[in-house]
Amino acid sequence: MPRDGTNRLIETATAEIAVATSLEALDDVRVKYLGRRGSLTLAMRELGALDPAARRSAGAELNAAKDRITTMLAEAAQRLGRAALEQRLAAERADVTLPVPFAGDGRIHPISQTIDEIVAIFGEMGFVVAEGPHIEEDYYNFTALNIPPEHPARQEHDTFYLPPRAVHRTSQAATVGAAGDGSRLVLRTHTSPVQIRTMLAQQPPIRIIVPGRTFRADHDATHSPMFHQVEGLVVDRSTHMGHLKGCLIEFCRAFFGLDDLPVRFRPSYFPFTEPSAEVDIGCSRQGGHLEIGAGGDWLEILGSGMVHPKVLQNCGIDPAQYQGFAFGMGIERIAMLKYGIPDLRAFYDSDLRWLRHYGFLPLDIPSLVRGSLTGVSAA
Ligand code: DAH
Repeated sequence: MPRDGTNRLIETATAEIAVATSLEALDDVRVKYLGRRGSLTLAMRELGALDPAARRSAGAELNAAKDRITTMLAEAAQRLGRAALEQRLAAERADVTLPVPFAGDGRIHPISQTIDEIVAIFGEMGFVVAEGPHIEEDYYNFTALNIPPEHPARQEHDTFYLPPRAVHRTSQAATVGAAGDGSRLVLRTHTSPVQIRTMLAQQPPIRIIVPGRTFRADHDATHSPMFHQVEGLVVDRSTHMGHLKGCLIEFCRAFFGLDDLPVRFRPSYFPFTEPSAEVDIGCSRQGGHLEIGAGGDWLEILGSGMVHPKVLQNCGIDPAQYQGFAFGMGIERIAMLKYGIPDLRAFYDSDLRWLRHYGFLPLDIPSLVRGSLTGVSAA
């Protein structure tokens, strides 16, 4: 190719690179000149037909042209890449002052909202959230909580048992957990096994709150086979019943948003606490209408007690050195009471009309000051 031919090639390539507005268009230019059948490639292939002196000078010229075009392509690619990035950044820029786009449609489920509220209240008192598995071993769900096999309390739990696990390693195809060794798997019937797991994993002082799913083979208007509980556990050197009472009175009043809510501790029995108490809040049921905080009547909302010395012992904690209190409550139940939700089953129906009515706006973040008066969704 004569010299002015090479110059023209560079000129047209320069012009085409300058107007390429995308990386794809740029690649077309590269193929046109430098591809296998590109004009520069073909011109280089023709060098062989020239005599040695002409080949040397033409070759040098073509190589220079190739370098030039390659450099221009690389620069243009960089420029276009930067521009594309800037365009994307501009397009994806979020205006944080705009209203939340999904606030009109999405709702926080009352269970999630209630859990957040409970965690906010106990969080303020220095509790941390702990969790445990839904599929639990019999030992943690019952035995370690001072509910040995054959204990009558087991009957009340309507436990879902999982099939015994086969142990493939042994030749006799033995099964583990069919009976007494405590490894039989259950769907946890309460959140209390997380007490055991926590005490085994950490030394006191312990101050945990455990919201989570629980399971019992029970289904009617006020029971669901899957439901939620929240467990609390405090263990320290000088924890006493006064701490239990103060903590739970404070919780009830904060949760229902009533500073003078009457709270009563009624002696009760749980295998894992001694003494045990059920906690009632004051209410009125006049005219078939339930009003929380009004006088005259009582409504049970949670179970509690001082952690049984045997339970501490089962977890390697010396009951002569440490005492603790624990409590547990049903989340659906207190959500129904606080937010006036009449039917338990609706919680799990996924009916959007129900959720729009009883659900909460996503940015309606629970706090200590959010009592029952402001807590009900305006939807
Ligand atoms: N685990 C009990 C239940 O499911 C509730 C409960 C009562 C938990 C008393 C506690 C407690 O930690 O102290 O019925």
